[in-house]
Parts: sequence; structure tokens; C-alpha cells
Amino acid sequence: MRQPSLTSTASFQALAAHAIDSTDWQMRDLFAADPLRFKNMSVEAAGLFLDYSKNRLDRRTLELLVELARERGVEERREAMFRGEKINLTEQRAVLHTALRAPLDCALVVDGQDVSADVHAVLARLRAFSDAVRSGAWLGYSGKPITDIVNIGIGGSDLGPKMVCLALRQYAHPRLNMRFVSNVDGHDIDAALSGIDPETTLFIVASKTFTTGETMQNAQTARRWFLARARPDALARHFVAVSTNTAAIEAFGIDPANMFPFWDWVGGRYSVWSAIGLPIALSVGFGYFSDFLAGAHAMDLHFTATPLEQNMPVLLALTGFWNRQFLACASVSIAPYHQDLNRFPAYLQQLDMESNGKRVTRTGQPVDTSTCPVIWGDCGTNGQHAFFQLLHQGTDVTPIDFIACLRPAHELEAHHAALLANCFAQSEAFMRGKNIDEVRADLQAQGMGPADIERLAPHKTFPGNRPSNTILMEYLTPYALGALVALYEHKTFVQGVLWDVNSFDQWGVELGKVLAKNIEAELTGDAQPQRHDSSTNGLIAMAKAAV
Ligand code: F6P
Repeated sequence: MRQPSLTSTASFQALAAHAIDSTDWQMRDLFAADPLRFKNMSVEAAGLFLDYSKNRLDRRTLELLVELARERGVEERREAMFRGEKINLTEQRAVLHTALRAPLDCALVVDGQDVSADVHAVLARLRAFSDAVRSGAWLGYSGKPITDIVNIGIGGSDLGPKMVCLALRQYAHPRLNMRFVSNVDGHDIDAALSGIDPETTLFIVASKTFTTGETMQNAQTARRWFLARARPDALARHFVAVSTNTAAIEAFGIDPANMFPFWDWVGGRYSVWSAIGLPIALSVGFGYFSDFLAGAHAMDLHFTATPLEQNMPVLLALTGFWNRQFLACASVSIAPYHQDLNRFPAYLQQLDMESNGKRVTRTGQPVDTSTCPVIWGDCGTNGQHAFFQLLHQGTDVTPIDFIACLRPAHELEAHHAALLANCFAQSEAFMRGKNIDEVRADLQAQGMGPADIERLAPHKTFPGNRPSNTILMEYLTPYALGALVALYEHKTFVQGVLWDVNSFDQWGVELGKVLAKNIEAELTGDAQPQRHDSSTNGLIAMAKAAV
């Protein structure tokens, strides 16, 4: 069970030696030397196209990376996950988000339980409920159809549905306004409740555990707000829940008939495919929600059946691993060149950083290299006018994932051409850069004198040689989005296997939760805080004085 440490493996050592040999490589030279580089370093799967040719590596690097993946057991661990083995060791749970998007006839049985039948039974309920709300058959307490839906959840119970509803806004039902409340900051729920009518509002309380402090507090506030305006027996038509915790839902006062269950083998950050996706089914309809699942399933089939050398999630993981491990890239920027994907970087932050932001192996030994880089980003072209300066000329190298659609969902062709031009130009600029001789020649051609050229040239020089991937799809459809999310899920999984961390627990969020409970009691009670350091005591005292 205990794996050899990563750096002691033969394939890692071969990669380390190869990395030393590759220190001086320039990507522009690699492109010049191989006219087939784009063709050879790109792959298609499930309607997505990945160009990974603008990474600072060659065929040999990829061979060594694939050897590492084999030595670390990526194939065996992948099979174990899909089979329903309890690979989440610290919680003794299976990891089966892939079962949520598999067809009924895949007949997956785990611990004697027919997982496929359970999944499809809940999907049928999601279909019936979303059809009823969308058609107007589901009425509020005064007999009016629902117009506003407020999803109350946080982390995986918020980020996925919010990201997808926004990304698929072109498919949204025109009568239904989707609102998402996650923050315990009262400004969030205050804003969500303003301007809505209790007679036509549906609240979804979404929490895997149904114990998460922020969600419980927001749900109680919503409940009080509703009951201040409607009779208690109206609650059943306006509050539904998505959870694994039936007892807590009943205690909250939600009719169990209005509870959409899921299971402990679905991690929060992998739960968008489960009943947590109810807001998506409501907004775009169950048919498009099914397409979203189908796109993810197509990526699952590719991931399980394709040799590692041509496997899109594996290649994304391996190039990212190379950048992290051997080019010391501490962060990765996600740049969707599609405005409707503007919550995608935030979604990936939880997916990747909550999964692989770990420092011990599955058996509790310290990992002997760096693990997950920081994931961050924003939509292009906006990012170009904000933080891209650092990406081009800062001292750190930050790989970028560009994500774009070949066709827009609007008819503003000139906008789309400008958008794609910017996307492709950026990856070219990061790869090529502009060396000082090119800068001098440019300035000379503009008629600048030698003294001014020498003064300006260092500022106008771009080092280039900065890695990026480009992911293309035809349109941003539910199917393509499903494939895209599954691509990143599997990329995260593969990197977790390389580092030998448990990508499916999240103990790191616990300490802050416990301390916040203590401080909350101090903020709301009479006692002066003294148990903390002087900074924390001082901050608490300031907050108490301000009340
Ligand atoms: O605290 C972290 C976390 O457990 C995430 O992993 C999860 O997505 C989020 O909180 C919300 O949890 P729940 O769905 O149980 O409310």
C-alpha cells in the first residue's frame, strides 16, 4: 500500500535528469525544428480539442511523463475509482461521481447496492420536479407559478450549479430567475431576498451534510423571511432540499417528499452531476441537464479507454505536473475566452485546490515535492488589461489554460473574431516572446535614435517561453461543458495519483471552522477575549466595540 516516495522513483529521476538537459530550451526553436508539433501535440475527445504544443517539452519529455504515470499506478487507480473501491481512505468512502453520469445499463453495484438504479431513480425525480416548475404546473401557495429560485449552499453545493447556470444562460427558461446565496455575510442573502415575492419564490437548501454553518444560517434566515410573509403550511411548496442527511432536513421542517438525495460517495466538489445540479435542471431543463451529464460521460469513456499517450485528461495532468515540478510554476491561470464561463476559474479553484492542496501522502508520509499549484484566473479579454502584464513580463512563470469556442451563440461576428484573435495572440506571445534584437529592430524601423532605443529596449522585451494549453470546443453547449468539467476532474485525479495524495478529503478546512465557532461565541457574548494572541484579541475587541 505504501508507495515509494515520488522523487525516489526511477521515472521521476529520469525526468529530473531530462529537465536539466532541457533548461535552455526555447519553445520557438522547438516549433521551428518540428513542423508537425501542433499536429503531434494535440488531441480530440468528447467534442473538445486540446493543443498542448505550447509547453516547454518534447516527445521524450512526454514519454518520460507517461512512464511516471504508469509507475505511479494511474491506470490501476483509475480502474479502482470507477469500480467503486473505497479510494477515499481517510473517510473510507468510494468516489463515484462518474456513476452519476453513466447510463442505467452500466449496472454498477457497490457493497451490494445497485448504484445505477439509485442514481437513475433520483434523476427521474429531478426530471419530474423540474418539468413541473418549468411548465408552471408547480404552484406557489397563492396559486402562481414560480418565477425566482434561490439556491442556498456553499462550496460544492454552490459553485457548480452557479457556474453551469451562468455558462448555459442561453438555454435558460425565460420565466425563472436564478439566484445563489453562499456567503454567511448577511449582505449576500439580503441582496438575494430583495425584490422577490414569497408567493413565487422557490428555495433550494443544498448541503451534502446539512450541517454547514453558512448554509444553515442562510436557510434559517430565508425560512424566517418566508414565514413572516406566508402561513407555515405554505413552506412545503416553497422549500426543497438536496442532501444526504434526511433526519436534518426533517428537523429543519422540509417535507421529505421534497428532498432530493445523494450519497456519501459523491464528494462536494464533484457533486454538480447529482441532485446538487437541481438548479441547472430547473434553469435549462432536464433534457439539457442530461446532455451535460452525457458530455461528462463521454469524457469518462475517453479517460478509461484511451492509452495514456493520447488521453486528454492524462496529458493535461502530465504537462501541468511537468510545469509544477520541473519549471517550478507555483500557480496556473485559467483564462476562458467566453464571458459566460466567468465563474469557471472559481469552480476549478475548489475542484483542484481542495482536492490536491495536500502535504502528506495517502499513508501519511510528507510528500517530498511541491503539490497543487494555486489556481486562479478571469475571463479573457478582461484579464489582458489587468494581470496579464505580470504573466508576460513578471519574474514568475505562470502557465495558462486558454479556453475558447470556435462559434459564438450570438451573431456579432466581428466581436467573435476579435475575441479569438486575442486568445490566439496571447498564447503566441507567451510562447514566442520578443527578444531584445527584435525590439531594437522594431524601434529602429520606427525611426528612433540609438540612445532612446537602448533606454527603452529592456522594457519592451518579452522573455516568452511561457507555457500554455488551448482548449477549444465548437459551441458552449451543455454537452461540451460537461466534457470540459469532467476533463478537469480527471486531470485533478491523475495529478493526485502522481503525488500520491488523497484527492477526496478536505481536512484543511476544519481548523478555521472550529476557531470561528469559538470567536463567534466571544463576539456575541459578554466576556472579553483573552485566550488568543494579541492580534486576534485586538480584532475581536474592535468588532465588539463597534456593535
Ligand atoms: O468545508 C468544505 C466543504 O465541506 C466542501 O468540501 C463542500 O463542498 C462545502 O464545504 C459544502 O458542504 P455541504 O454541501 O455539506 O454543505
